[in-house]
Amino acid sequence: MAINQTMQDAFNEHINHEFFASYLYLSMSAYCESINLPGFAHWMRIQSQEEYSHAMKLYDFLLDRDGKVALLPIAQPALEFASVHDVMQQTLDHERSVTGLINGLYGKAVAEGDYASQVHLQWFITEQIEEEKIASELVEQLNLIGDRGDALLFMDRELATRTLAPDPAGTGAT
Ligand code: FEO
Repeated sequence: MAINQTMQDAFNEHINHEFFASYLYLSMSAYCESINLPGFAHWMRIQSQEEYSHAMKLYDFLLDRDGKVALLPIAQPALEFASVHDVMQQTLDHERSVTGLINGLYGKAVAEGDYASQVHLQWFITEQIEEEKIASELVEQLNLIGDRGDALLFMDRELATRTLAPDPAGTGAT
């Protein structure tokens, strides 16, 4: 059954949110690079790529349901950040807001009796648990580190080892 107009509009809006997240994390990556933390920059770049793949997972779903993809303008993300702690705190805040948006989308799918969308969105609900958990851990680690440069450099080396999760959209995009 083709997706209805309400769900199509909601999915298109959410595709835009995922692309914005990709943009935001890429901007954070550039900032981390500028303050000589290449491990954090690498971590944020991977995070950006994962957000791109989240957008594509929804994009493919819309097409599979005979929906129309409408790519909306992507807002400009922040260019400056106060510190790497600020970057990570904003990442956590952003992930929490995305969780709210996903929950809203799921609620809409329930209200519309759209079972296929509910099933598809379950992946995102699970993913948000992981996203919030990881960002929260990194904020806590930075709290522990405080202004100890040696510990920050150690964390930077750790984050440099992050690898890209398997592409959830299966599009070969990442
Ligand atoms: Fe697409 Fe970070 O959630």
